[in-house]
Amino acid sequence: MSTPGAAHEDAASIKPATGKLGIMIPGMGAVATTLIAGVEAVRRGFAKPIGSISQMGTIRLGKRTDGHSPLIKDFVPIADLNDIVFTGWDIFGGNLYDAAKTAGVLERDQLESMRPFLESIEPMPGVFDQHYVKRLTGQKVKVGKNKCDLANQIRNDIAEFKTKTDRQVMIWCGSTEIYLEQTEVHQTLEVFEKGLVNDDPGISPSMLYAWAALKEGIPFANGAPNLTVDIPALRELSKKMNAPICGKDFKTGQTFIKTVLAPAFKTRMLGVSGWYSTNILGNRDGEVLDDPESFKTKEVSKLGVLEHIFQPDLHPDLYGDIYHKVRINYYPPRGDNKEGWDNIDIFGWLGYPMQLKVDFLCRDSILAAPLALDLCLFMDLAARTPGLRGLGIQEWLSFYFKDPDTAPGVYPEHDLFIQSMKLKNTLRHIMGENLITHLGLEYYGE
Ligand SMILES: NC(=O)c1ccc[n+]([C@@H]2O[C@H](COP(=O)([O-])OP(=O)(O)OC[C@H]3O[C@@H](n4cnc5c(N)ncnc54)[C@H](O)[C@@H]3O)[C@@H](O)[C@H]2O)c1
Repeated sequence: MSTPGAAHEDAASIKPATGKLGIMIPGMGAVATTLIAGVEAVRRGFAKPIGSISQMGTIRLGKRTDGHSPLIKDFVPIADLNDIVFTGWDIFGGNLYDAAKTAGVLERDQLESMRPFLESIEPMPGVFDQHYVKRLTGQKVKVGKNKCDLANQIRNDIAEFKTKTDRQVMIWCGSTEIYLEQTEVHQTLEVFEKGLVNDDPGISPSMLYAWAALKEGIPFANGAPNLTVDIPALRELSKKMNAPICGKDFKTGQTFIKTVLAPAFKTRMLGVSGWYSTNILGNRDGEVLDDPESFKTKEVSKLGVLEHIFQPDLHPDLYGDIYHKVRINYYPPRGDNKEGWDNIDIFGWLGYPMQLKVDFLCRDSILAAPLALDLCLFMDLAARTPGLRGLGIQEWLSFYFKDPDTAPGVYPEHDLFIQSMKLKNTLRHIMGENLITHLGLEYYGE
């Protein structure tokens, strides 16, 4: 019988990460090019993979007194960066050197030093429909008789890439699509597949990529706030194909800090009456989010966080009346270098008010790229791990997301440190190591 904290899995049952891992990216803009150029820079020894838990993080095994904390990449069998091959789709012509120059994240000298490599990757024509991303006009797009035909064209691209790589994962780094609510067409795989043929408007391009990947048995992660795989039909397909899914919306700048500060107030039982968050952002993502319909998708993703952390139902005196506002303003001069301000009105003992101001001058894609890398490596690991691959949603990867997908009826964990513990304990669990509960009684017994 198993006991709490005991090992359940057998590390030997995880298939080794031999051969090439193919990373397939719909949307090769700022995040994708920063990821790809960054991985190449690390492979060549030009830079360190800073911000990547899979590359730089350690994991404690055993007691604190054991002094055993290996690097995560030495503990779990994840792919080596040298074994990664990239491909993807976009709706603009040109190769990744052009795309990275347009994104304007990395310095010109750094890009020049990797120019032939970046020029060697040319995105395939994407599946695009301006109805779902109003601010962009597709230049290199696939043409098909219906959504099913278009999704099958993506499957053909995947099949071709399968001949060059041993395993594959797909990660959506495409633009934020308009806000979609779940409808009938999302409820079962059968209805969804009929909807593909009937061009159901509830099926967006990101869902076509996700469906194609899962049909091919390939894990799919969603870096944007779109609904995409967070629907029963694709959860069903994910489980059926043993192809893990996770999402949504990389937790990078303001929300990353929010999910650190909010749990701090909550854990000390300090009240919060207002939280005003605003951003200025000048990259193409900012331009897309300037459209109210795409912004709505992002807003919903950003707003959910506080509700779940504060649990106002349990603590009405502290969090029952919060005014929470999130704004994103498109401001071209800043490019990818976003500035995010938070004004937080809190209250303490006897209700006395206090304020906290945060001004985060961050770099959007510099924060997002290592998250995208970790997700690809961990999703590939999940697909090789018997105890994880059939689960559908990989909730242990909620660490990386603003709005984590969860099983129906289960509220998401937003607290960054709970998420981190969940991630590391999952790694210990699949490797047959004891879980770390932080109980610590063992140090004080006889
Ligand atoms: N810190 C971050 O950068 C961050 C954080 C959280 C979420 N995100 C999300 O990640 C996504 C990518 O961000 P980015 O800064 O790289 O944006 P970007 O605009 O630079 O890149 C997105 C790319 O997707 C392409 N695209 C759009 N629809 C497509 C389709 N149907 N098929 C193929 N390509 C398509 C666009 O042409 C563009 O090149 C956005 O949705 C953004 O909201 C980014």
